[in-house]
Formats: sequence, C-alpha cells, structure tokens
Amino acid sequence: MDLYAEALLRLKRLLDEVSKTDQPEPTAMTLATVDARGQPTVRTILLNNLDERGLTFLTNLHSRKARQLVDNPRAALCYFCQSPMQQLTVEGCVELISNAEADAHWMTRERNNQLAAWASAQSEPLDSRETLKRRFAEFKERFTDQQIPRPSTWSGYCLIPERIEFWTPGWRRLHERVCYTKSANGWSVTLLYP
Ligand SMILES: Cc1cc2nc3c(=O)[nH]c(=O)nc-3n(C[C@H](O)[C@H](O)[C@H](O)COP(=O)(O)O)c2cc1C
Repeated sequence: MDLYAEALLRLKRLLDEVSKTDQPEPTAMTLATVDARGQPTVRTILLNNLDERGLTFLTNLHSRKARQLVDNPRAALCYFCQSPMQQLTVEGCVELISNAEADAHWMTRERNNQLAAWASAQSEPLDSRETLKRRFAEFKERFTDQQIPRPSTWSGYCLIPERIEFWTPGWRRLHERVCYTKSANGWSVTLLYP
C-alpha cells in the first residue's frame, strides 16, 4: 500500500471508530481558510465524504469561507476527538465538487435541511431571526408538493491533502506525531517531536 493510501486508511479507521461512540457530531472538524489580507479564519464544518481524492465538506458558495477559497484555495482541517484522544490535521488545496456530486449530496438531505439552505444567505448580515423564519416559511410554501431543487449556491469543496498529521497521546507526554507529506517525489512519512 502506498503512503497516501495508508494515511487515508488510518484516517478512515479513526472516523469509523469515533462514529461508533456517542459523540453527537462525530465528523465535525475545524476548517481554516485565509482572507485576502492573510488573516486566517476558522469555523466548524461536517466532513461529508472521504475518498482517495480527499475530504469533502458542503457549504454555501457565497459564504465568507467560499469567497476566501476563490481568492486562495489553500485550506486546512483540524479534527480533535476526545475518545479516542486524537488530533488529525490535513493541509492542502480545495477543489469545487462537480454539480453531479453536489446534486447527489443534496438528494440525501432532509426536506427541512434543504429549506434551511434556501432560507439562509450564509454569512450575510441578517436583520432579525424573524426574517430567517419568514424566508423558511416562504420557501416551504413555494416548494409545496414538489421536489426541492438544489440552490446554485449550495455545493461543496474537496480538500486535496498535501500534508496529513496524526497526533496520539503518549506516555509521560511523549506524544506521537506521524506526518505524511506530499512532494514532487511522492509521499513520505516522518515522525515529529511532540
Ligand atoms: C457542529 C457544526 C457543524 C457545521 N457544519 C457546517 C457545514 O457542514 N457546512 C457549513 O457551511 N457550515 C457548517 N457549520 C456552520 C459553520 O461553522 C459556519 O458558521 C458557517 O459555515 C459560516 O461560516 P463562514 O461565514 O466562515 O463562511 C457548522 C457549525 C457547527 C457548530
């Protein structure tokens, strides 16, 4: 198995393990992006898919994060779980997923989630909670008795890994850090001081 496949397998095993616990959002991760001034920004997203291409999350393409990713596609994810105690970090560049992929994810969402996506102009100022609730009700009415189409602003990004690091706690704080890195020669793996 090549090193990239090994890292992804390790990542998948970790997510599978956490999903068997009672953690309420086992795929919640911190996504870091950078704005045009070089200011890093962070927020939580849910990992929607993991495959050989990378880590996919879904979002609004007009959101603050998405606007930053248009200017600078570099991003990082940090996943911390308490049980088992682990930290995973992934760095790389994002790519927009295809419309077909976005449609497939959209179809799996509950109706209320779809309506919430229509109602929310994510990251834009909102004058009151009532406005959001009114918008939700309006879209509910508009799409009565019909399938709800995917808004063109609702899609996702795949973070293509260039660096994947696993941190596991060690005896007497001698924690283990295993770092997989991609270079022109392919993937390599190294230990780092904790
Ligand atoms: C547990 C949790 C899961 C979330 N999942 C997502 C998600 O998958 N996609 C998303 O766009 N926002 C998600 N959010 C909301 C984001 O954290 C954030 O508030 C929103 O995306 C706007 O961020 P932005 O203004 O930086 O673009 C989630 C928040 C929490 C607390």
